[in-house]
Amino acid sequence: MDQKKDQIFEKLKTKFEDIGQDVNVHLEGLLHSKPLTYWDYIQTDALLNLQIQRTTLPDELVFIMYHQINELLFKMILGEIDQVAFKKKLTTPFFAKHLNRISRYFDMLSSSFNIMKDGMDIEQYMKFRNTLAPASGFQSAQYRCIEFASTELINLIDIRFRDTIDRNTPFSHAFDHLYWQAAGKDHKTGKKSTLLKLFEERYMDDFIVFMKTYNKLNLWTRFKSLPKNERENKKLINAMRHYDHTVNIQWVMSHYKTAGKYLDSGEESAEATGGSDWKKYMHPKYQKRIFFPDLWSQEEKDNWGITNIKEHAIL
Ligand code: HEM
Repeated sequence: MDQKKDQIFEKLKTKFEDIGQDVNVHLEGLLHSKPLTYWDYIQTDALLNLQIQRTTLPDELVFIMYHQINELLFKMILGEIDQVAFKKKLTTPFFAKHLNRISRYFDMLSSSFNIMKDGMDIEQYMKFRNTLAPASGFQSAQYRCIEFASTELINLIDIRFRDTIDRNTPFSHAFDHLYWQAAGKDHKTGKKSTLLKLFEERYMDDFIVFMKTYNKLNLWTRFKSLPKNERENKKLINAMRHYDHTVNIQWVMSHYKTAGKYLDSGEESAEATGGSDWKKYMHPKYQKRIFFPDLWSQEEKDNWGITNIKEHAIL
């Protein structure tokens, strides 16, 4: 026991000496330190004070909080992607473990989306949404980062412009041709909507840096760096397909159906708060967003978002 105590003391002494500090001062400080509480550690007061409604309608709280829950999970997903992206000697078990964690979080987001679809009164939603324009979930920077960090840039380029873009294209040019530009840009005039202008003013510089960083560190590139026989492992391929399918079909379809329920609830279809041509823009069959296209057959890609794809039934 004493020996263990001595060892710990020696380690502490070294730790503090390394930063020019006296270990005895720090040990004495412990005599007066407050015991840690759950609320200080989890920051519950800060967390529970972040729900600021713009209206008196109670269901607005559901809307705000569910978005906040999404952002928290997006942060957890990005944390797991980073563990893979920056791992020096990447092994298949490590990759698979973190991919499964990422998938579990996105499964949660996808299966819980009916909190939006069924958890708010249409009447209330149609009122409080008028106080939000031109804001939209479209402006979630973390969602965009998950995309940049999951796949190669070419897979996020608007399908109409893919042939004009290659590895030598400047990042700023590629950025201007990302699939989601279509939600905020009139392609005939090139004029950008307020939704898109504000989003770019706030985040474009950060996105360009992020895109450059993940150009060679995204999940797909890291997957390709695994040994060939392991890349052919069916379990791993199925896990990759599952993630792709959850993000780009399941979640997108739940989102699309939710938008349909509210925006089509009146006599006339309502405009999206962000102002996009949402019916066309949001459906996966138009965007054909696929993180890992090499892991799907041509038929599966052709039917993306049209027929049910069995994400596990491969090879
Ligand atoms: C009642 C609930 C919701 C409705 C009616 C809705 C509607 C829409 C619409 C119409 C768009 C197209 C852009 C525009 O606004 O013009 C959009 C985009 C988007 N929304 Fe939502 N949304 C809802 C909930 C959510 C939630 C909970 C999230 C989670 C953060 C979210 C994240 C996004 C994202 C990331 C986009 C961009 C998707 C893309 O570019 O394909 N939305 N939403």
